[in-house]
Amino acid sequence: MTHYSIQSRILVGGFELLHDKIAEANVSDILVITSKSLVRHGAVLVFVNFLKSRYSVNVFSSLEPEAPVDQLDEILIRFSRPGIIIGIGGGSVMDAAKALSVGWQGNTISEFLYRTAKLPQDNIPLMLAPSTAGTGAELSFGAIIYDRVKNFKGGIRSAGILPEWVLINTELYQTASARLKAEVGFDCLTHAVETYLSKSSNAYVRQQSVAVIATVFHHLENATHGSPESIEKMAIAASLMGVNLAYSTTCLPHRIQYIIGPLTKTSHAQGLIALYKGWLPQVSTTTAFKQLNIDLKPFGIDLLREVPALKMRLDIDYSLTTLGVEKEKLDWIAGAVEGILNADPCFENTETIKNILINAL
Ligand SMILES: [Fe+2]
Repeated sequence: MTHYSIQSRILVGGFELLHDKIAEANVSDILVITSKSLVRHGAVLVFVNFLKSRYSVNVFSSLEPEAPVDQLDEILIRFSRPGIIIGIGGGSVMDAAKALSVGWQGNTISEFLYRTAKLPQDNIPLMLAPSTAGTGAELSFGAIIYDRVKNFKGGIRSAGILPEWVLINTELYQTASARLKAEVGFDCLTHAVETYLSKSSNAYVRQQSVAVIATVFHHLENATHGSPESIEKMAIAASLMGVNLAYSTTCLPHRIQYIIGPLTKTSHAQGLIALYKGWLPQVSTTTAFKQLNIDLKPFGIDLLREVPALKMRLDIDYSLTTLGVEKEKLDWIAGAVEGILNADPCFENTETIKNILINAL
């Protein structure tokens, strides 16, 4: 595929930029999905109070990590169908808001997760304001949600769940701790590297990846220290990688993390950080990786050397052992990994996954 477009419109600035857009949508009911910590944030409070002065507003701020599907189905019962959904928060809030945008049409979100119901054509207009720069969930075609009862993580995938508007508000990103900024920023790096190397990649994707990898190496550290310029650069880079995810795929680290995350109760980014220890040396022998390193030469970046160095500088040098994975579990993990595995240029068979796991310990 050689097509690349951003259907959502992106604004950079404060919440007031959304005021006119909401008025133009001509709706009376608004549902705000946010997190426990952000609902008390000054700028969010002012914005929600503004909304309450003009519209009928419901706020849901008790979303658990990973966007549990039972909570989403509970929201469908608890609130009536809103005219607009506004999501303010990290990746789980983005995913929850996107999943809910196909709700209130006769089916539960669980049915969409398990594909026992077809996704509707219509969706409720979405406005998303991310608070972490990394997942790119605000602009990707998928909503990754979690069934905590069956311990199953999966996605609702459709271009229809893209938001109408994305607000990049640097004030929100300051709420994350330095460690969280570093970890989520690493997730952004993985999207750039993996969407470049994937066999589903294309020239547009690769061009954006190279620019974003350079941005991460030049700005992530400063962003973790709170530099507004670097935070803005990282936020835009992360959103762009959301688009890359739509036009390419991630590689083995993302497939394996889906097993590691629920097993170790660690975050998406933490799992990827650990897995890169084993995956990078393995993928570095491929032609695609060698080409990426050539493309990064003008920026003075040699990935195989620089990625571990960046992890050290950010103090996020995790391994699978740090996350609590035991050697005896590796066979089981390797066998449990599923999805499109051969998009990864280094994938041959289950042994490839096992080698990655062993080297990531
Ligand atoms: Fe990711």
